[in-house]
Amino acid sequence: MRICIIGFGAVGQGVARVFSMKRNKIKQKYGLDLELVAATDSEGAVISEGGLDPDLLIETKKKTGKVSEYPKYGVSGLSGYEVMDTVEYDCLIEVTPTNIDDGEPARTHILKAIENGKDVVTSNKGPLALSYREIVDKAKSNGVEFKFEASVGGAMPILNFAHETLAGCDINSVFGILNGTTNFILSRMAKEGSSYEQTLKEAQQLGIAETNPAQDVDGIDAACKVVILANSILNRDVSFKDVEIDGISKITPGSIELAKKEGYLIKLIGEASQETLEVSPRLVREGSPFAVGGTLNVATLKTDLAEDVTVVGKGAGSVETASAILSDIISIWKVRK
Ligand code: HSE
Repeated sequence: MRICIIGFGAVGQGVARVFSMKRNKIKQKYGLDLELVAATDSEGAVISEGGLDPDLLIETKKKTGKVSEYPKYGVSGLSGYEVMDTVEYDCLIEVTPTNIDDGEPARTHILKAIENGKDVVTSNKGPLALSYREIVDKAKSNGVEFKFEASVGGAMPILNFAHETLAGCDINSVFGILNGTTNFILSRMAKEGSSYEQTLKEAQQLGIAETNPAQDVDGIDAACKVVILANSILNRDVSFKDVEIDGISKITPGSIELAKKEGYLIKLIGEASQETLEVSPRLVREGSPFAVGGTLNVATLKTDLAEDVTVVGKGAGSVETASAILSDIISIWKVRK
């Protein structure tokens, strides 16, 4: 499968890393050859129809800050959009930063690939939170696969899990910790009394925060995920503007201490149901399944047949998020081969 990665930040580099780690195993196990034919960042691109070396690509990006410095095949100034017209590929991996104002440039990249009959995998929440139906309908009418497991909860399995493992159940609501950065901040503040500013800085250094970290702390990132869950799992037709949002910026060390004394933790919770779309800080009991720390995400799906099912996993991180992208690529391969 010829793969084109648009965006080479933490997630794009994670995808290259898992290609390097897993290419041989995946070939043996599924007969799928992951051939990376192009990658782009905001400065330019690198294209080789004979295939790029993912390790050299990561090294080049780390050393120079630009994929276009890749020996021989780099092209400075070429945009993702132009690359899609230049290279022959089968599957687009759209992993540019989330833009919640208009979903661009990801929305245009994704629609262009779909119109050209290419399968698409994305972790990008902007187009999904703003133009979900348009994209999903276009993918259906063009007969292409459009997968986005990595957009909600990073490595926490939820979308494919709901559609496949819980295929026979009606799912009535989803409730959970959907943002790794705020969970990291809140749990460090509760456990070690670390300051909000310092912990946010660490989250940025770890590559788990959004390019604009206000999206995390203001609840915007979690709200995008609420929209994706509502549309994809609850079959609603909603968008970002329909979510009531309150972030964590008003949470003080004092309020965390007070909650702790009463046996509670403060967590940023997202909820999606037929009646509710909400993100807000809430109290969860210490010792409950929601008392997870670090970058973990957790979500409970309320179902008719199976009652409550709770999933947990790393909600952010380069390789962790790429694991969900890889599993989407493999499931596309199973349909295509
Ligand atoms: N910034 C996001 C988070 C990344 O912290 O959860 C994963 O969507």
